[in-house]
Amino acid sequence: MKDILSELENRRAEARQGGGAKRVEAQHARGKLTARERIELLLDDGSFEEFDMFVAHRCIDFGMEKNRPYSDGVVTGWGTINGRMVYVFSQDFTVLGGSVSETHARKICKIMDMAVANGAPVIGINDSGGARIQEGVDSLAGYGEVFQRNIMASGVVPQISVIMGPCAGGAVYSPAMTDFIFMVKDTSYMFVTGPDVVKTVTNEQVTAEELGGASTHTRKSSVADAAFDNDVETLAEVRRLVDFLPLNNREKPPVRPFFDEPDRIEDSLNTLVPENPNTPYDMKELITKVADEGDFYEIQADFAKNIITGFIRLEGQTVGVVANQPMVLAGVLDIDSARKAARFVRFCDCFEIPLLTLVDVPGFLPGTSQEYNGVIKHGAKLLFAYGEATVPKVTVITRKAYGGAYVVMSSKHLRGDFNYAWPTSEIAVMGAKGATEIIHRADLGDPEKIARHTQDYEDRFANPFVAAERGFIDEVIQPCSTRKRVARAFASLRNKKLQTPWKKHDNIPL
Ligand code: HXC
Repeated sequence: MKDILSELENRRAEARQGGGAKRVEAQHARGKLTARERIELLLDDGSFEEFDMFVAHRCIDFGMEKNRPYSDGVVTGWGTINGRMVYVFSQDFTVLGGSVSETHARKICKIMDMAVANGAPVIGINDSGGARIQEGVDSLAGYGEVFQRNIMASGVVPQISVIMGPCAGGAVYSPAMTDFIFMVKDTSYMFVTGPDVVKTVTNEQVTAEELGGASTHTRKSSVADAAFDNDVETLAEVRRLVDFLPLNNREKPPVRPFFDEPDRIEDSLNTLVPENPNTPYDMKELITKVADEGDFYEIQADFAKNIITGFIRLEGQTVGVVANQPMVLAGVLDIDSARKAARFVRFCDCFEIPLLTLVDVPGFLPGTSQEYNGVIKHGAKLLFAYGEATVPKVTVITRKAYGGAYVVMSSKHLRGDFNYAWPTSEIAVMGAKGATEIIHRADLGDPEKIARHTQDYEDRFANPFVAAERGFIDEVIQPCSTRKRVARAFASLRNKKLQTPWKKHDNIPL
């Protein structure tokens, strides 16, 4: 028995050494951790249970029969994050470049199937040279099987992709279909075709980092949701994100212990909105002052900064926040902000995370660039996402809520549950100046008359009371009591149930 056990340990040790000391050293020299080191950091100490450690590929072409390393370039299994179960795969670049073979893909599929069956998130750590070139179509088939599982798991269990090395070609489409993508600055990249092909086809000269690095994907393309300085920080942030999420779509979001009074009054909020309606202020101040312990986990912080998305907790329960940001483009809605917020709203609705919407929006951004690029359809995404969402929806209008953007931003008309407004709110078809110039066009040459008309319009519409008279606003609240009002509203909605007509699925404008 002793020999048998020591044989097992020898085999395990062989698997754990991955591609060998030299390749591990090369990985470290690039500032990257190994697949197993990453899993250790991601999961609670000692919680990792590995599957398929002894899996080896079955390829016999190109001399591959003599090179059959254990684990086949990916470490898979399950463990816990702060005591809650997650499934993990972590590609091992030191073994055949983390390339995806038939068996490598099968290992990933196995844990994805188990994650769906057992209702736990899947976290995929990507560090791979792509399809295993020696295997050809078997590798492509493997990718296809993973893709199909990404689709089936979407909306059932949260899926998080962490890009910690190369991720290129069709391989990018698995992360693309997951809920969140995190990247590591300077050591990871994602693109469909690399710099060489780009040069050949379009004659553009671009580095891998410029084409598909973390900065590109968090600021320009919005493919990635966040980027961090190194592997350690990135994995710590994944743990923080998982703490906000339910394990599956049948579970309520987690409730954590909290040390912050739900009815805390924040007097400073009474002066948050400046007297001049055109002066910006930072909506993040409101978010952090409403949140338990001021803790806000922002998603896509570097993209479409005119809208803010992320998670807070209220009375310990996760709440998704969408908020216009007056500091950037006056908080206007445009293609990028509508897409960003729509995807976030849909994620929250999939996973029963209630939505808090903070509104200060002057309307949609005008211009040919917006119209030519389809602001009609992209704007409709956000409208559609809010309208279809059945989770508890609480809205607070702090200042402007003009035109179509008023309706879009989780208004009463889109099944908003609690629609509050601060006394500083202006709920109208448009701002007073624009409205006056249209209604009183004949008086445009007379500045005095125009000033009077503008004042009349402001007196009549630049307030929340017309909407409140009609019940479109449930209550005009004091800014200082926002946390209390919002927390009570969500508490009253804990058992909310809403029916939608039977359908196979909707047809959101894409
Ligand atoms: C087999 C691979 C591999 C691959 C890397 N390796 N990629 N083996 N299939 N796709 C092996 C290398 O042979 C090498 O083995 C080891 O991994 C490390 O690779 P290096 O080239 O030494 O590393 P580095 O210089 O860091 O370059 C990384 C790289 C490069 C940029 C990823 O390896 C590369 O260009 N690989 C090929 C990428 C590619 O064309 N993949 C197919 C894309 S198509 P040794 O034994 O020397 O350590 C695709 C389609 C997916 O993925 C479609 C899905 C639908």
